[in-house]
Amino acid sequence: MKKHIKASNRLHGVAIVPGDKSVSHRAMIFGAIASGKTEALNLLDSGDVHSTQNCLRALGVEISGNAARTVVNGRGKHGLIQPKDILDCGNSGTTMRLLMGLLAGQGFSATLTGDNSLIKRPMKRVAGPLTLMGAEFTLTNGDFAPLTVHSRQHQKLKGIDYHLKIASAQVKTSLLLAGLYAEGMTTLRGEIGSRDHTERLLPFFGADLKISPESISISGLAELAGATIRVPGDPSSAAFWIAAAGLIKNSDVEIQNVSLNPTRTGFMNVAKRMGIRIETETTVEQPEPIGNLRVRSGDLCGTSVAPHEIPSMIDEIPILAVLATQAHGVTEVHGAEELRVKESDRIETVAQNLRAMGAKIETFKDGFRIEGPQSLQGCAIETFLDHRIAMSFSIAGLVAKGETEIRGVDSVLTSYPNFYEVLGALTGVL
Ligand code: S3P
Repeated sequence: MKKHIKASNRLHGVAIVPGDKSVSHRAMIFGAIASGKTEALNLLDSGDVHSTQNCLRALGVEISGNAARTVVNGRGKHGLIQPKDILDCGNSGTTMRLLMGLLAGQGFSATLTGDNSLIKRPMKRVAGPLTLMGAEFTLTNGDFAPLTVHSRQHQKLKGIDYHLKIASAQVKTSLLLAGLYAEGMTTLRGEIGSRDHTERLLPFFGADLKISPESISISGLAELAGATIRVPGDPSSAAFWIAAAGLIKNSDVEIQNVSLNPTRTGFMNVAKRMGIRIETETTVEQPEPIGNLRVRSGDLCGTSVAPHEIPSMIDEIPILAVLATQAHGVTEVHGAEELRVKESDRIETVAQNLRAMGAKIETFKDGFRIEGPQSLQGCAIETFLDHRIAMSFSIAGLVAKGETEIRGVDSVLTSYPNFYEVLGALTGVL
């Protein structure tokens, strides 16, 4: 499907962004292996979360209710059953990588696959360390899905002390899930500073986690018990409205119930630095800080994003690139090589689409440089099965001359099903 976007002169109103994708996946997976009921309030009702739910159902887990209140009937730590079919993770890297860790120690084998984007994404980063714990995998061409987790009854995983080389919350969580089924302690060190939802949520389910600035350890003895989880609004979805309000003069937007978890607020900090006026009011502190934002346009200036800032805004870099085209001066991003293995190679897909709109961008292995302001010209945008590319270039269309055609907009169902309704309401062209 296609969408046609025209320039807008003002963004105004209230946006309530849907539940956080990372927290939603975790609430479902942790709930599945907990004993008793888990309630997730404000769950993200989107393609990626449906992929996790469908895989869990195939593993014997009952899930009912709706996005406002989803109930998982936990099967306890050893209650999952062998799936009859291949588990389809759709477009969701989080589903596949977290399930690899979960399934590594279940005592049965399972095969996982995904769509044309997911089967091109690297899985050895998870399979490698899990193999050190005694897990066994067959990966397509040594790194990709379709892949099979071979686990046999009475074959126990062993806890490891592992140095993470990539700041990836998916790898971290996968290893901690396997650690729940391993003998002894599993300790992670190195790049542990990625989003910390697992560390915040697992103790809510009763897991024994030891966290220090240098390491995270989990005991294989822990049993989980069902919990009630309030899912905050997704800051990666809020980022589109923050950017749009910043790009379009005279904008004034309120965004309600957004996660203010410091491992996720990198884009908000950079947006402020670039001149967007953001006022924040915190309404909830635990287990995840949540708040309301008021966002108003300002004079935009370029900025330099340092490698240490990247993990806290990894999914927001495509929209940052769009923002950078309208900012005075140079915006330069480094340390973001992980963008190359997301739903698309986001350094290339951002560059290709910005160039199609007439903008100049210099790319590096680990980032890009954009000098602004530059005028954008409406054109046809290819989205490569990547929801964040579709949404970022829809926002670009709001400040481009003429009409922008976004091709393959169905991908927004992955993380933000009512994105275009909200866009219509805020721009007043519903
Ligand atoms: C996620 C972690 C990030 C992020 C993805 C969701 C998670 O991926 O890009 O959208 O829920 O753990 P990496 O762990 O690969 O950085």
